[in-house]
Amino acid sequence: MSGGQRVTRFPEIPEPLLNVRSAPGRNRRMIPAPFDASVVEGLPEAGGPPSLPDVSEVDTVRHFTRLSRLNYGIDHGMYPLGSCTMKYNPKIAEEIAARLARIHPADAPAMGQVLKCLKTLEQMLQEICGMDACSLWPAAGAHGELTGMMVIRKAFDIRGEKRRTVLIPDTAHGTNPASCTIAGFVTKNIPSGPEGYLEASALGQHLNEDVAALMITNPNTLGIFEREIRAIADLLHANGSYLYMDGANLNAVMGVARPGDMGVDCMHVNLHKTFGTPHGGGGPGSGPVLVKKELARFLPAPFIVRDESGGFVLRARPSEESIGMVHSCLGNVSVCIKALTYILSLGPSGLREAATVACLNALYLKSRLKDLFDLPYATPTLHEFVLSDARQKGRGVTTMDMAKALMDFGFHPPTVYFPLVVAGALMIEPTETEPLEELDRFIAAMEEIAETSREDPEKLHESPRAAPISRVDEVWAARNLILTWSDERIQPGEKGI
Ligand SMILES: Cc1ncc(COP(=O)(O)O)c(C=O)c1O
Repeated sequence: MSGGQRVTRFPEIPEPLLNVRSAPGRNRRMIPAPFDASVVEGLPEAGGPPSLPDVSEVDTVRHFTRLSRLNYGIDHGMYPLGSCTMKYNPKIAEEIAARLARIHPADAPAMGQVLKCLKTLEQMLQEICGMDACSLWPAAGAHGELTGMMVIRKAFDIRGEKRRTVLIPDTAHGTNPASCTIAGFVTKNIPSGPEGYLEASALGQHLNEDVAALMITNPNTLGIFEREIRAIADLLHANGSYLYMDGANLNAVMGVARPGDMGVDCMHVNLHKTFGTPHGGGGPGSGPVLVKKELARFLPAPFIVRDESGGFVLRARPSEESIGMVHSCLGNVSVCIKALTYILSLGPSGLREAATVACLNALYLKSRLKDLFDLPYATPTLHEFVLSDARQKGRGVTTMDMAKALMDFGFHPPTVYFPLVVAGALMIEPTETEPLEELDRFIAAMEEIAETSREDPEKLHESPRAAPISRVDEVWAARNLILTWSDERIQPGEKGI
């Protein structure tokens, strides 16, 4: 990182931890004395009180309120974090999900309604993606990838084929190789063509009888649609291999094109990017897996089926062919309910319009920024695009400097240094929910940053100036994780500081 003079390892924290505020007797809540546990057999001996900060309710509420003010979220302003589709999520989806949150799993009639909602969502996702069957249980995109690859592995195992290689283009999302490896495959990275998409003519040399699948992110991490995907699918099928599509970028194509029609055999979507739940923030996600008919019987249990009375029930395991359970209960139901609400409230034409405007917004930004920053790939892009710091680097200004400077203009920075195929990448995804004025404000900020990098590059090393904490040593922090509170603060000089 340049501007190293401002990097700190122990910055002054603007809102101290509750542990720091703790004072004996501060929590004056009257808690009844514990009942006599000795009369109940089998309970463990009572230990000492838990080691919690001694703070009052008002201390706690104010602490979290102040923290929330230091935070930046999509409800504050534009959040152009490429690959994360940080769009505004309509509050009606939260409202409907909250209403269903209190249903008890033993309340059979209410659960029948929930299962009906989930079945409807399965069917809608199948329709949107052009696939034959769906499982809503995976809890995130990467979990969906793992589940999908376990399904593919099961298909080969049942057939007695021992294929173990998965090909992954260098424009794939970072979770793809990890998921394949956990599912027991060996991954082989294959280069995309000079225009940033995988060329079918280059695929042939990598195909052999050990190739179980190709896992392709489409649109890929450069925001480029894999235009040869149909020919790629044909080549894979002729080789007895499957085509897995990382469909987490569905926001770019929903309602416009269907992966199933492109020859995709298995895919996942990220409900928490595309359908009404924000990505990130550590909250629950959902990464449903969709497959073609041939793979349907391997999907994870349980299955939502109709009973004799026409209602919906869960069937645990229809056959030994299912890969088994991948999540307890019904996956992350609230995320599924939000997705269903989102899809129903937009309808087919609304989904199509959302995708179209997401691409239009990204193209508008790209067309206004491409003359100020390096654009490594001239190929047309969809919902996001990647710039680099190649033009500014000569003056000592890096992608990190520019990302930090954007914070001073009131924006969350874009994704940086990803995808790896572009050195110093700045990956920008505005999404469809940004109005023209906000896009223009972002352009103005980027123009000013480009100008400052020419006129006064040193200034950019000082960014962010407006944030409560400026530059921290992220590499050091990642290598020296301190995730629990301790009375003994680490002092400079310790741990090789
Ligand atoms: C293209 C792509 N694939 C996979 C993932 C992984 O999803 P998750 O973070 O839910 O595991 C993401 C996350 O942003 C993604 O953008």
